[in-house]
Amino acid sequence: MLNLSELIAEKRLLMVGGKGGVGKTTLASAIAFAAARAGKRVLLVSTDPAHSLADALSRPIGGQITRVYPDLDALELDPDTEVDAYLERVFQQMRKYAGPDQVNELQRQLRLSSQSPGAQEAAILERMARLIEESEQRYDLLVFDTAPTGHTLRLLSLPEVMAAWTDGLLKHNKRSEKLGKALAHLTPGRSVDNPMKDPHDNSLEGLDDRSRELTETLLARQRLFQRTRRLLADASHSAFLFVLTPEKLPILETERAVESLRLSHIPVAGAIINRVLPDLEDSAFWAARRERQQRHLEDIQHRLAGLATMRVPLFEDDVQGIEALVQLGDHLLSAGT
Ligand SMILES: Nc1ncnc2c1ncn2[C@@H]1O[C@H](COP(=O)(O)OP(=O)(O)OP(=O)(O)O)[C@@H](O)[C@H]1O
Ligand SMILES: [Mg+2]
Repeated sequence: MLNLSELIAEKRLLMVGGKGGVGKTTLASAIAFAAARAGKRVLLVSTDPAHSLADALSRPIGGQITRVYPDLDALELDPDTEVDAYLERVFQQMRKYAGPDQVNELQRQLRLSSQSPGAQEAAILERMARLIEESEQRYDLLVFDTAPTGHTLRLLSLPEVMAAWTDGLLKHNKRSEKLGKALAHLTPGRSVDNPMKDPHDNSLEGLDDRSRELTETLLARQRLFQRTRRLLADASHSAFLFVLTPEKLPILETERAVESLRLSHIPVAGAIINRVLPDLEDSAFWAARRERQQRHLEDIQHRLAGLATMRVPLFEDDVQGIEALVQLGDHLLSAGT
């Protein structure tokens, strides 16, 4: 059985993931409240574009760290805002490199790339990586309420996402051939720990100072991602929690996601099976639903064998507002013991 008290006591980073609508935000929030009530200093972060935490907690939160309960802060990262901030940083960096005649073109390219599929991910991932590092001192536990599964799994390809991104940014710059060669270090398959190590490679030589500075910045970012990946893979530090409902599609998606994390050596702490129908004598309709659900629960046992699970009942009402989340958090801790 999944023991949440233990996770809260031992880990520094909890990632809560799962298919859309299964209860990620609700459960991530309830866990965060439970941890704060257990004496941890907690930061709850949502990476969803919608104002999901604000809706769950029934109070405004937004892009600034906001105190929502004793020892519990919350933060909503907005992908659009993050992309803008990210592109602005990239622009400030690259304009030093671009000639005066290229600045407009650079700006145009950056605006275009803000629409590219990787941009929001790259921006959010960088912010998450920075948060993880910067909050070490201030918080005992970080709880991430992540966007639906596929998205979250991109975390595992951090350096790859970033390499694709920088490549895209630099491709258009004709003067950057040498720099491009240096940046080839950033693509997957090279030693990321020390990209300069290759003794036969002198591609950084001959770069002017501005190019060198840009390369250094990109390398620093890559090192940051590398450290994040290492933390995520460290079972004593981090844990991935899946939320699913006893239904066919969430089960299949979770099974795939767990396998994908396993292949990437990312530890999965367990799964929370949400919205389990309570055992009531009511109508033939619900009796049939419960029977179907029973089969799905058996399927979960089979497909997620070896993974610690816990069940959370379907409640009469939505779980909304701080009081309801505190109650659910207490329920989660007592259910695990
Ligand atoms: N066990 C439960 N019983 C009753 N209602 C629940 C339960 N779990 C979640 N809910 C409700 O279901 C709705 C969706 O939950 P939630 O927002 O946490 O899902 P999500 O996985 O974060 O969704 P999204 O993928 O859109 O971010 C919310 O209104 C929430 O209050
Ligand atoms: Mg959500």
